[in-house]
Amino acid sequence: MAALYRASPADGVAWVTGASSGIGRGTVLELARRGFTVIATARRLPDLETLVAEAIALPGKVIPETGDVTDADGMLALVDRIERERGEIVLAFLNAGIYYPLRAHPFDAASFRKTFDVNVYGAINGLAALLPRMSARKRGQIALNASVAGYGGLPRAGAYAGSKAALIAMTESLKFDTYLLGITLQVVNPGFVETPLTALNDHPMPFLMKLDEASRRICDGFQTGGFEITFPRRFAYILKTINLLPYSLYFGLIAKMTGWGDKKD
Ligand SMILES: NC(=O)c1ccc[n+]([C@@H]2O[C@H](COP(=O)([O-])OP(=O)(O)OC[C@H]3O[C@@H](n4cnc5c(N)ncnc54)[C@H](OP(=O)(O)O)[C@@H]3O)[C@@H](O)[C@H]2O)c1
Repeated sequence: MAALYRASPADGVAWVTGASSGIGRGTVLELARRGFTVIATARRLPDLETLVAEAIALPGKVIPETGDVTDADGMLALVDRIERERGEIVLAFLNAGIYYPLRAHPFDAASFRKTFDVNVYGAINGLAALLPRMSARKRGQIALNASVAGYGGLPRAGAYAGSKAALIAMTESLKFDTYLLGITLQVVNPGFVETPLTALNDHPMPFLMKLDEASRRICDGFQTGGFEITFPRRFAYILKTINLLPYSLYFGLIAKMTGWGDKKD
C-alpha cells in the first residue's frame, strides 16, 4: 500500500473548479495564502479576474482558466493544457455545484437533470481527466465537494441531496482503488456556509459558518489527508446520528428541524 500523499506547493500546482464564487473562491485564496499556484476554473471570466487581482499580494499565485465542468472533452483538454503549460496538478478540488429547491409537484425533471449534470457528472468529468495522469505518476490528491445534505433526504432537496449522496458513495467506492494507486481521495461535506448559494435560503441554517473559516477548514483537511473533511463537526455528527434513526422518527424530526412541519402548501 502506498503512503498517504499530501500535496505541497513544491510538487506542482493546484486546480479548483467552481472558483468564481463562494467556497471555491475562498479555497483558491486560502491555497494561494499557503503558497500554491492555483488554476481557478469557472465559466465567468470577469469574476476569475477579480480573484486574480485579490490574490496578487499572496505568497502563491492564481491563474484563471475558464471552463464548464459539464463539458467532458473541454475538461480533458483543460487538464492537458494546465499540465503542459503549468506543470503537474498535485491537488484538485472538484467543487463546482448548483442548488435548486425543488418539489415533487410540479415535478421539474429538467432541473433534476441539470443538478446531476453539474454536481455529479461535472465531478466525473474532472476525475476522468485527472485519474489516468495521477495513476501513471502514482501521486496526486483529489477532493470532491459533496455536502452534509448528502447524508439523507431533506425537504426540497430531491435533486441536490440526491446528487450529493451520489458523490459521497462514489468517492467512498473509488477510495478502495485510489489508495492502492498512490492517490489521496477525499470528500468534503460542509454544513451551511455563507455564500451566494445559501444567501437565498428562507429556512433556518443552524451553525452557519463564515466563508473564510470554511476555506481554512478545507485547506487544513487537505494537509491532514483524512477521507472526510466535514464542518462544523457538531452539526455533521448530529445529522449523521439522525440518519441512523428509523424512518418512523427520521421524517418527523427533519420536518421539525427545518420548519417543514408548519408548511401549509
Ligand atoms: N454554501 C454551502 O452552505 C454549501 C454547503 C455544502 C456544500 N456546498 C457545495 O459547495 C460547492 C460550492 O458552493 P457555493 O456555496 O460556494 O456556491 P456558489 O457561490 O454558487 O458557487 C458555485 C460555483 O460553481 C460554479 N459553477 C456552477 N456551474 C458550473 C459549471 N457548469 N461549470 C463550471 N463551474 C460551474 C460557479 O461558477 P460559474 O457560474 O462562473 O461557472 C461558482 O463558481 C457546491 O458543490 C455546493 O454544493 C455548499
